[in-house]
Amino acid sequence: MFEFIKDSKNRYKNLVDGEWVASKEDTYIDIYSPLDESLIGSIPAMTREEVDLAVHAAKAAQRKWKLTTIDERGEILYRAAEILLEQTEELATLMMREIAKDMKSSRSEVSRTADFIKFTADTAKNLSGESIPGDSFPGFKSNKISIVRREPLGVVLAISPFNYPINLAASKIAPGLMAGNSILLKPATQGSLCGLYLAKVFEAAGVPAGVLNTITGRGGEIGDYVTTHPEINFINFTGSTEVGARISKLTSMVPLLMELGGKDAAIVLEDADLELTANNIVAGGYSYSGQRCTAVKRILVMEPVANQLVEKIKEKIKKLKVGNPLTDGDVDIVPLINTKAADFVMELIEDAKSKGGKLIAGGNRQGNLIEPTLFDHVTTDMRLAWEEPFGPVLPIIRVKSKQEAIEIANSSVYGLQSAVFTQNINDAFYIADRLEVGTVQINNKTERGPDHFPFLGVKASGLGTQGIRYSIESMSRPKATVINLPDQT
Ligand code: NAP
Ligand code: G3H
Repeated sequence: MFEFIKDSKNRYKNLVDGEWVASKEDTYIDIYSPLDESLIGSIPAMTREEVDLAVHAAKAAQRKWKLTTIDERGEILYRAAEILLEQTEELATLMMREIAKDMKSSRSEVSRTADFIKFTADTAKNLSGESIPGDSFPGFKSNKISIVRREPLGVVLAISPFNYPINLAASKIAPGLMAGNSILLKPATQGSLCGLYLAKVFEAAGVPAGVLNTITGRGGEIGDYVTTHPEINFINFTGSTEVGARISKLTSMVPLLMELGGKDAAIVLEDADLELTANNIVAGGYSYSGQRCTAVKRILVMEPVANQLVEKIKEKIKKLKVGNPLTDGDVDIVPLINTKAADFVMELIEDAKSKGGKLIAGGNRQGNLIEPTLFDHVTTDMRLAWEEPFGPVLPIIRVKSKQEAIEIANSSVYGLQSAVFTQNINDAFYIADRLEVGTVQINNKTERGPDHFPFLGVKASGLGTQGIRYSIESMSRPKATVINLPDQT
C-alpha cells in the first residue's frame, strides 16, 4: 500500500492535491540513518512554485472540507487510526532507522498516535457550542441571544520536529482536520520519511484530495517562504525556540501555536521518596537519550538529601542499556540525531568539567553515542545549568531552601514543565503555585501525556495550548450569530 509514495530509487514523493508527486526539478535531499549512515531514502527539496501548488490546493479543498459533517470527518479519522495500527511494524522500523529511536519506543509512538487520533474524533464529536443571553449585561433585555459555534481557520501549516515524527505531526493534523481546516504538513527533514508515511495513512483513510498536503525541503531553505505565504491562516509549530522565534518575527497577523524548547527542573525536597524520585529522574532524563522536549533537564535538590539522591541516580544509570537499536535491540541510550547535536552536548559537558562540575557518571562519546552523563555540584555559571542539551546529560544543582529552588527554576528563559518531589502536599502546592511553567508534576517525571491534558509552555517554551480539546479549539474560532427578537416588554 505504501510503495507508490516512492519510486524504484527510493525517492519519496509529496502528497499534493491528492496526487503523489515527484520533484519537478529533480532536486532531492538524501536521508541517512543516524544508526549506520546508510541511505534510507530521498525527499524532494520543493521549490517555491511547488509549494505554491500545495498551498493553493489546500485553500481550494478547504472550502469543501469545512462543509463536511463532523461525523464524516470522524469516520475518516477512525479509519486512519486503524490503518496506522496495521502499519505499526513497518512504520516503527522506518522510525527506528530514520531517527534512531529504539523499536519499543517507536512502536509505542505509533500506538499512542492511533489512540490520539481516535480520541480526537471522539472529542470533536462531543464538542458543543453555546447560547448566551443578552440580558445578563447591564442595559440589555432578554430579546438578544448570541449563538456561538466554532468555525475552522482555513489553511493550517503544521511544522513538526524530528523527535516524534509521527505523534507530533498527527497531533496537529487530526485536531486541525476535525476543526474543518485543510493541512500542509512540513515535517522535519530528518523525520520526513515517517511524515510522508503518515500522510499516506490519512489519504488511505479517505481524506479528500487537497485537504492534506505535504511540503518537504530544508527549513533553512524553504521555511521562510512557507511561513510567510499569504494563504496560510494558522501556523502550528513544534521545534526549537530559535526557529519558533524566527517564525514569530517574520509572520504578521497569522495566529501561532508553538511548542518550543525547555529546561524542565526536578525539584527534590528533603522528605521526598528518593527511590521514586531517582526512578523518575532517570526515566525522565535519559529516555531516547534526552531528546524529548519534556525530558528532565536539571535537578534542584535540597543539600541534606543530595548525596543519597546522587548515589541512587548513579546506580540506576549503570543499569541503562547503551547502544545501537539496529544491532543491540531495545536500548535506552541511542546515538543522537546527528554530529552537530552530539558536538553541542559535548561542549556543555566540557564547559561543566572546566568550571568544576563533579562528573559522577558518563562523559564519554563514541561517534554520536554519548554515555548517560551526570554532574553534581553544578553551579549557575555553567552552561549546563541553563541550556537545553537535547542529549543524555543531567546537572545536579544543590539548593538550601525551597525559595532558592524556585528562584533558580524561574530564572530559566524556558517554562515548559517542572516536577516537585515531596510527601508534603502543602509544600508541593506552595512550589507549584510559584513556578513559571505550563505544567507542574507532583511526584512524577515531567511528561506530556495523557494527550488530552492541556500542554503548554510559557516564556521561551511556547505560545498557546495543545492537548486534544485545546488543539481543536486553537485551530478554530468562535463565530457568533445574534438573534434579535422583537422587544415584548
Ligand atoms: P528545529 O530544528 O527547530 O526544527 C523543527 C522544524 O522546523 C523542522 O521541521 C525544521 O525543518 C523546521 N524549520 C527549520 N527552520 C525553519 C524555518 N526557518 N522556517 C520554518 N520551519 C523551519 O527543531 P528539532 O531539532 O527538529 O527539534 C528539537 C527541538 O524541538 C528542541 O528544542 C525541543 O525542545 C523542541 N521540541 C519541543 C516540543 C514541545 O512540545 N515543546 C516537542 C518536541 C520538540 P528542517 O528539519 O528541514 O530544518
Ligand atoms: O518532545 C516532546 C514530546 O511532546 C514529549 O512527549 O513527554 O510523552 O515524551 P513525552
